[in-house]
Amino acid sequence: MLAHSRNCDMPLYSPSFLEGRKDVVTVTPWLAPVVWEGTFDKDLLDTIYKPKNITVAMTVFAVGKYVQFLKDFLESAESYFMLGYRVHYYVFTDQPEAVPMVTLGSDRRLTKVKIPGSNRWQEITLGRMERIENFIETQLINQADYIFCLDVDTKFYGHWGAETLSRTVAAVHFGFFTRSRDAFTYERRPESQAYIPYGEGDYYYGGAMIAGLVEEVYKVTKTCRMWLEIDKVNSIEAVWQEESHLNKYFLYNKPTKLLSPEYLWHGTYHTDVVKIVRFTQVWKDVSKVRPN
Ligand code: GAL
Ligand code: MN
Repeated sequence: MLAHSRNCDMPLYSPSFLEGRKDVVTVTPWLAPVVWEGTFDKDLLDTIYKPKNITVAMTVFAVGKYVQFLKDFLESAESYFMLGYRVHYYVFTDQPEAVPMVTLGSDRRLTKVKIPGSNRWQEITLGRMERIENFIETQLINQADYIFCLDVDTKFYGHWGAETLSRTVAAVHFGFFTRSRDAFTYERRPESQAYIPYGEGDYYYGGAMIAGLVEEVYKVTKTCRMWLEIDKVNSIEAVWQEESHLNKYFLYNKPTKLLSPEYLWHGTYHTDVVKIVRFTQVWKDVSKVRPN
């Protein structure tokens, strides 16, 4: 069957292969792939993953005025996210009645999970790790294989499929993929559990996307939740909240796959390097959506 072979027959060494994506890093020094357009064969990946009959969970938090982002988020996910796979969305919200009716494809479901609101956006974002941890422990561990934890103030614009599946997956932040490590906005105060000294670090990962096997993401959220608690006791809040802790986690527990900024972009324009925008943060007037 043709679909089980590489689309293009090329030896491991050939000058024309070297003309592929030599403009970007496609493998980390610990041999994790970095997913860019032009580095994977979508149809071949589907022949591997579809027979596995996997269930993909996706968590998204829509608290307070952030419910306004749900419609575009969900509709665009229905157009691009893991099409052809069993997908179960879990929408964590303080306003279940405000979750829009979005027509879902076959084998796709949505469950609303009621959570309290908050007067501080930092509380909402900091509480996500603990909620995901508890949710995995009490429900998801036996119900899903992979999980994607995504920000709601985002929208899909392009294919996002099985090339994003792996044990632990991090997305390289759009703001830092051309910068060297000392420019990264890691937490730099040693008093915080998220502390990363200058001279250390691999990449700067965005907090808007965490993914992987359910049991692996469980470890991510549990560890970050514990660090967040310690910081709270010490009255320190990491500079970019859970994103800072996530970067610390992935420094010591290397992700097995990295998503290029195609998967976490800002705006809809593309560049010579980011040839396709798959998922992007939506511009927002923070004074209109945040409670503080
Ligand atoms: C910004 C982004 C923030 C945070 C920050 C890190 O571009 O909007 O959410 O990730 O970068 O420096
Ligand atoms: Mn966001």
